[in-house]
Amino acid sequence: MKTVILIGARGKMGQAALTGLGKHKVITAGLSGDVDHIVDITDEQSIEALYQKVGHFDAVVNTVGVCEYAPFTEMSESQWMTTVMSKMMGQINLVRIGQKYIADGGSFTLISGILNVKPIPLAIADATTSGAIDTFAKCVAHEMPRGIRINVINPTVLKEAWDVYGEMMPGFEPVPSTLVGKAFERSVDGFISGQVLYVDA
Ligand SMILES: NC(=O)c1ccc[n+]([C@@H]2O[C@H](COP(=O)([O-])OP(=O)(O)OC[C@H]3O[C@@H](n4cnc5c(N)ncnc54)[C@H](OP(=O)(O)O)[C@@H]3O)[C@@H](O)[C@H]2O)c1
Repeated sequence: MKTVILIGARGKMGQAALTGLGKHKVITAGLSGDVDHIVDITDEQSIEALYQKVGHFDAVVNTVGVCEYAPFTEMSESQWMTTVMSKMMGQINLVRIGQKYIADGGSFTLISGILNVKPIPLAIADATTSGAIDTFAKCVAHEMPRGIRINVINPTVLKEAWDVYGEMMPGFEPVPSTLVGKAFERSVDGFISGQVLYVDA
C-alpha cells in the first residue's frame, strides 16, 4: 500500500482517479470543501505547505487544471494566464517542489486531455497547456532523481462530464470514469515513466 496525495479529489477527474487508487492510502486535497488538505496549486507556498503537512508520501496524483474556454481571436491574456498558471505551471510546480519531498522511487501523475490531439473550437488554451504537460512529462522523466517516475493521463471526455462538455464536443465518444481510473492505476502501480497514457474511445 502506497500513500498517495490526490489533488482535485472532489472534481470529476479526481473521482475518476480515485476509482483506480483503491488499494492505497489516499490523502485528498483541493481548493475547498471536504478534503484532508486545502491547497491552491497556483500558489507555490501553498504547495510547499501541503507536502510539509503530509510528510511521507509515495505518489502525487494531480487532476487539477483550470482552463478558460473562448475563441482564440477573443481570448484575453488574462484568460490565457489563468489556464497557464493552473494547468501548466501549477502542475509543473507540483513536480518541481514535490521532487524534494516525495519518497525514493515515488511517482507523479499529471492530467492533460485529448484536445491537444483532437482540437475543437473554444479550447485552444486547454489544448496548448495539455500539449505542454504531455511534453513536460515525457522530457523531465529523464531528469527525475532517486528513481522518481512521472506520467500524464490524457483522457477524452468522461461520461460523467458529458452533460457539461458534450455540446461542445460533437462526434466524440465519452469514456467511463472507471476506465480512466485504470490509467491512473497503471501510472501509480506500474514501473513506466515519461509516458502519456491516452484514454480514448
Ligand atoms: N472532465 C472531463 O471529462 C475531462 C476530460 C479530460 C481532461 N480533463 C481535465 O481534467 C482537469 C479537471 O477537470 P474536472 O472535470 O475534474 O474539473 P472539475 O470537476 O471542475 O474539478 C476541478 C477540481 O479542481 C479543484 N481546483 C480548482 N482550482 C484549484 C486550485 N487552484 N488548487 C487546487 N485545486 C483546485 C476544484 O476544487 P474545489 O472542489 O474546491 O472547487 C475541483 O475539485 C481539467 O484540466 C480538464 O481539462 C477533464
